[in-house]
Amino acid sequence: MRGTAPPEPSRGAPAVRLLRHPLGDALLCQLRDRSTGVESFRAAAHRLSLLVCATALEELTVEVVPVETPLAPTNGARVAEAVVGVPVLRAGLGMLPALEALLPDVTVGYIGLERDEEHLTPTRYYGKLPDLVGRLVLLLDPMLATGGSAAAACDSLVAAGADRIVLACIVAAPEGLAHLGARHPHVPVVTAAIDEGLDARGYIVPGLGDFGDRLFGTGQASERVRN
Ligand code: PRP
Ligand code: URA
Repeated sequence: MRGTAPPEPSRGAPAVRLLRHPLGDALLCQLRDRSTGVESFRAAAHRLSLLVCATALEELTVEVVPVETPLAPTNGARVAEAVVGVPVLRAGLGMLPALEALLPDVTVGYIGLERDEEHLTPTRYYGKLPDLVGRLVLLLDPMLATGGSAAAACDSLVAAGADRIVLACIVAAPEGLAHLGARHPHVPVVTAAIDEGLDARGYIVPGLGDFGDRLFGTGQASERVRN
């Protein structure tokens, strides 16, 4: 299931780009499947992140450069702007190798956030950001649930000088899109799915469970399931 159509952009809502690709649908299905073990989960997360990150970089500025093929001179393109990737620890680390594969010289900063299970509010426990002024910042966090973590991460990025941020995620809830849109209306979101909503514990439904636990093999559910 791909999820619902992106909400119409309105005032205070971010632009949302929903990945539309059959491989994306198949990879997302592997991630959703509760029987997918750690090794397969990592591989599918990497491959799906390639599609999501490539889509998030569609507005990347390139410049025209001359190139000689074996047959004739022609014009080609070269990336002409600096990009900073910022994974939100831990789960965002599952998307970073894909961004590094697409942009091998990408600069990387880190933000560590953890959601309090009771109140669902994020606490920042780590931050290491390079200069962000004038750079395209690709924020990597696979799960946009209440939106509290993404909004807090954007607060940190803006405080560090970022003025062009794109959030790349894998599953978004309508609640998270609304919250992020209210706090950071100029941050577009690229996602592989928009799901139905949140359960009482703040998990995305149908979702894929706890991304960080499934990626790193922690948590009870992951320990029960082996490849
Ligand atoms: C997960 C996820 C997001 C956050 C989303 O991280 O990676 O950062 O929850 O939830 P929200 O939209 O309601 O804020 P978590 O806090 O579980 O930490 P982890 O990645 O270390 O497991
Ligand atoms: N974080 C996750 O990893 N999964 C959810 O469904 C919500 C927050």
